[in-house]
This record gives sequence, structure tokens and C-alpha cells, in this order.
Amino acid sequence: MTVNKSNIEKWAGIPTPFYYYNLELLKQTVETAALEANKRGYVLHYATKANANPVLLKQIFAAGFGADCVSGNEILRSVQCGVNPKLITFAGVGKTDSEINTGLDFGIFSFNCESIPEMENIDTLAKAKNKIADISIRINPDVDAKTHKYISTGKKENKFGISAWDFEKVIDKLKSLNNLRLVSLHFHVGSQITDLSVFTELCSRANHFNQWFYERGFHLEHLNVGGGLGIDYQDPESNPVPDFASYFSVFEQNIQLYPNQKLHFEPGRSIVAQCGTLISRVLYVKEGKDRKFVIVDAGMSDLIRPALYGAHHRIENISSDKSSVIYDVVGPICESSDCFDKDISLPETRRGDFIAIRSAGAYGEVMASQYNLRSIPQSVYSE
Ligand code: LLP
Repeated sequence: MTVNKSNIEKWAGIPTPFYYYNLELLKQTVETAALEANKRGYVLHYATKANANPVLLKQIFAAGFGADCVSGNEILRSVQCGVNPKLITFAGVGKTDSEINTGLDFGIFSFNCESIPEMENIDTLAKAKNKIADISIRINPDVDAKTHKYISTGKKENKFGISAWDFEKVIDKLKSLNNLRLVSLHFHVGSQITDLSVFTELCSRANHFNQWFYERGFHLEHLNVGGGLGIDYQDPESNPVPDFASYFSVFEQNIQLYPNQKLHFEPGRSIVAQCGTLISRVLYVKEGKDRKFVIVDAGMSDLIRPALYGAHHRIENISSDKSSVIYDVVGPICESSDCFDKDISLPETRRGDFIAIRSAGAYGEVMASQYNLRSIPQSVYSE
């Protein structure tokens, strides 16, 4: 799986920085997730927001995954890349009319509704098209995902979902919204969750709400527990494929489904993170006061996770095998937060060396910007 010296010759003429995707690892990951899910009769919707690169999307959808989308453009891209529209979920607190109409035109699996005003709007738009929209109530279960606060979504103070105290109102509303059909309850509590007990807690909240709706006559066909499974950023080499078996087992053991009810998931990061590496070249090695900087040609515009979340990505110098030196690895952008890591040990580094920033397949390329009017990085594939 490693990105190493053997790649360097092939990359000689390619301008850096670029994202390198190992499609063989993606295949293994997709197959493992699908196998473990199929065994248990679970349905997977890949969270397109994690990486919407068409080459990756085509491979993921060819394996039978549905899509979890958060914009009209993600719906269009996913359909172009082969997803079955009947397997698209559409989440997000601020869906526009035009995006809702896109979803209605494709007859998507479900609109995951995040507020009562949104339900009213989808009903109006569906009525204008003489259609019935299948919806899910996104429930805010007030579960602590024990992850970074920017990527926690299931606490009552977060903007996402509808909270328990509004359920009576939701049920009341549904009686008058004749162009909506409630088919599912939806949950998503956060991302990069490595403590599986969070999912046990999610199951217990989901069971409670599932029963609450059931007792009021809503015999829903589906339950959607979102995404969130974390990956190993420290040691991608030892754990290239996340432990999907243990993850799904938590649900197998703890979720209580009613007869014929199907369980759905929306994995993003766990599918694509490890297959992507950001490849850059060293521009300069600079001696600062008490520290040495490796200045690479990739910056926070190419991979914003370290600057935005203080996220750790393993960094490797794949050109050098000299003895180790302690460096800060920084980008060229005019912000002090444009720093990939501090005080890390790398083989002695020189101008022109290739630096690999690992586990960058999820929320990397897709969050790239043109800040400082830089170019969006290209993609290079293993095949
Ligand atoms: N479903 C919903 C409704 C979501 O909001 C998300 C992610 C997912 C599924 C997929 O979650 P995953 O399996 O990837 O954890 N940019 C941040 C992550 C933001 C996640 C947003 N929602 C990062 O770089 O860590």
C-alpha cells in the first residue's frame, strides 16, 4: 500500500502538489465494507462530500453503494457517476428550492429533513410537481461523539436535526402535508469516531425514537444511522482498511429493528481516506531560530484539515533515507496556520525531495480552495 521511492520515477514529469489515489486500496476497502454490510443486510450510501472525484465515485457506485448527498450538485455528480437515484439520501439544514427540485426529479430515496419549515417547503414543491416526496426525519439524539467540536453534529446545541421536544409537532404537521411520506428516521452524530461505544449509545437512542414513532403508528421501513467511523491517521500502513466488521457488529448487537425494517449507513471517510496521499516537493529547507522548516509546495489550500481542525496526518519524505532530523513542515501560504506538522522527525531533507502527506483521501481534494489564487491540485491514479 505504501507510497515509496518506486513511485518517484513515474512522477518525475508531474507538477506537484497532486493527490495520488491508490485504486487497489480503494477497491479492497469498498469490497470489505460491502461484504460486511451485505452479510447483515445493511444498505450503504457513500457520503459524497468526503471525496467527489469522479474516478473514485464510479468505482464506489459500481460496487452497489448508494449516495448520501448534501447539495444539488452532489446529486448530479453522483448520478453522472452511476449511482442509482433510488439510493440517494439528501441531507443538509439549508436545501434550496432548486436543489429540492433536483431531488424530486430524480425520485431520490429520501430527503433527510432537518426542520419543520423545511418539511413544509418540500411538501409545497412536491405538490407543484404532483409527486410524493419520501422523507426521513433527521433526529438530533443528543449524543456526544467524543470527537473534534467542529465535526460533532449530534448534540442538542448543534444546528443539525430535529430534537425530541418537537416530535409531537412533527407528527401533527405530517397530517396536513399530503405530499410527504415518512419512510425513515435519520441520525448522524459526528465524524472521525474511534470510540465504538459512541455507536452503542447511538443505537440505544435510535431504539428509543424508533419505538416512539412505532407506538404512534409510524411503521417505518428504514432506519439510517449515518456515518462517522474513524480511521487510523497515526499508522495508515498498519491499518489501511478500517475495521468494518467490528463497526457493523456494534449495530448488529445493539439495534432493534422492527420486522422488515432496513438499516442504512452513510460512510464517507472510512471508505476513501486511506487511499489518498497528497504528494508535494520540497521548495526550500530553512534554518529558523531553534528550528528547521521544510517548506513544501503544498499548502492549506490543498489540504486544510491540519489548519482547520489541528488534524494529524502522517508525513513521509519518500526521497531520502538519510538519518533523522527534527523539522516543522509548512506550506507557502501567507498564514501561520499553513503548517502540516511541527517537530516531526524526517530523514534529512533537501530541495526537490518528495513529501507524502498520508490519509488525505477524505475531506482533502474536495475541500481544496484557490486561496492566494493557487491552482486546485491535480489527481494521479495508481492505474
Ligand atoms: N452523513 C452525514 C449526514 C454527514 O454530515 C456526514 C459528514 C457523513 C454522513 C459522513 O461522515 P464520515 O463517515 O465521513 O465521518 N471535513 C471534516 C469532516 C466533516 C464531516 C461532515 N459530515 C474533516 O475533514 O474531518
